[in-house]
Amino acid sequence: MKKAPRNQTLTLSPKEIVEYKKRLVTADKLNPAGMTNRIIHGDIFKVAGRFPKNFVDLLFIDPPYNLTKNFGGKMFKKTDAGSYEKWLDSWLSQLVKILKPHASIYICSDWQSTPAVYNSAKKYFHIQNRITWQREKGRSAAKNWKNVSEDILFCTVSKDYKFYPERVRLKKKVIAPYRDNAGNPKDWQHEGGEKFRLTAPSNLWTDISVPFWSMPENTDHPAQKPEKLLAKIILNSSDAGDFVFDPFLGSGTAAVVAKKLGRRFSGVESDLHYCCLAEKRLKMAENDSSIQGLKNGVFLERNAK
Ligand SMILES: C[S@@+](CC[C@H](N)C(=O)[O-])C[C@H]1O[C@@H](n2cnc3c(N)ncnc32)[C@H](O)[C@@H]1O
Repeated sequence: MKKAPRNQTLTLSPKEIVEYKKRLVTADKLNPAGMTNRIIHGDIFKVAGRFPKNFVDLLFIDPPYNLTKNFGGKMFKKTDAGSYEKWLDSWLSQLVKILKPHASIYICSDWQSTPAVYNSAKKYFHIQNRITWQREKGRSAAKNWKNVSEDILFCTVSKDYKFYPERVRLKKKVIAPYRDNAGNPKDWQHEGGEKFRLTAPSNLWTDISVPFWSMPENTDHPAQKPEKLLAKIILNSSDAGDFVFDPFLGSGTAAVVAKKLGRRFSGVESDLHYCCLAEKRLKMAENDSSIQGLKNGVFLERNAK
């Protein structure tokens, strides 16, 4: 089927799949030194036990939520909360050893999966906060409130961790531009007729859009995270050169943003097509390190030009 002219959704030709497949690290040839800046094509349950210790500065985890969902033909089936928690715990418990003492961990979930994530994470980490982010697109339901939010649990290994809120300030339009007695702007700035305030990040993120088909980062992955969301996490909780790891890499968002921001990365994904999409995005990042919604070190409000 022919794509609409503005549809930028990334696709893969059979030739590209052959090429990108060659770059992947396969689970049977897992070599700790060879993992850096590479994608591991495999099952996290099979590879987690073979990772080196103490190498990750930032762990971003976006597992299948407790929903029935088709990931490249493989169904993840909704189960009861207890079974989902056991499933989570079976791999999370194995990932603890890969973390450095000052590492941060961000775990994504929706309202139904959050209790299980919390119960498992509290066994291993200091839970610092729950971030809620608003999806622009909601999932309608005839007899329920439209579901427009997701959670991210922010955890750390210890009480000593990296946190740089000044790198993730949000540029917000000023509604009431108050001035002090001398007539100077009170906590706001103006530029080109625009009145704005650079605000510190809160745990409620309303400036994120899920990738849609006219955005160059969009793929056919059914649960792709926005690059802007990863940029906030990576800039806030790591330094250039740090190691970012994602055990459920999907279309590669965490790896791509880590690369764009000068971090080292690795991740695991069980589906070959998604691994190849991630490789294609990594290749594109070599020529384009822009991140939608992030301009000159400042995050813009949703849909801002
Ligand atoms: C929620 S998606 C991650 C999406 C990703 N954050 C992105 O931006 O594209 C979860 C991914 O985990 C993968 N997955 C499921 N079970 C897995 C396993 N046992 N080992 C590795 N990957 C797995 C799925 O194929 C899916 O792509």
